[in-house]
Amino acid sequence: MKFPLMLTLLALTTFAGAASPAGKAIYTTNCAGCHGANGQGGVGPGLKDAAGWTPAIFARAIQNSVDDNNKPFKAPMPHWGKSGFAGDHGKAPTPAEIKSLQGYLKTLKFK
Ligand code: HEC
Repeated sequence: MKFPLMLTLLALTTFAGAASPAGKAIYTTNCAGCHGANGQGGVGPGLKDAAGWTPAIFARAIQNSVDDNNKPFKAPMPHWGKSGFAGDHGKAPTPAEIKSLQGYLKTLKFK
């Protein structure tokens, strides 16, 4: 009865593999214009620090528009918990979206 276990593992692997492209699409569409294609910064700061924030702090930042010290972000940083990502029709980002977004940040070169 090893077969069902293998199928489960395969499904999990496939899901994990799909997380990164989703994060890339979210980043390119919603963030790169201000934070740079490589997260190096532009209108907004570089995102190297944020890539290393704990998942909880990063998720709080995206949902509540506050930094790692719980200080509200200044405009023009959007409040994603209110606006939602592009294409999500105003729905707050999901935990899976935020996780794959931060996963993608960790792959950037920041320069
Ligand atoms: C219209 C421009 C703009 C867009 C689009 C934008 N940001 Fe920002 N972002 C900013 C600005 C400006 C700041 C600095 C705010 C401040 O200093 O209070 C910032 C700050 C941040 C910070 C805090 C960085 C730190 O080290 O303190 C994070 C994390 C962040 N943005 C992530 C994102 C993500 C992820 C997206 C896409 C989902 C995004 N931003 C889209 C402008 C933008």
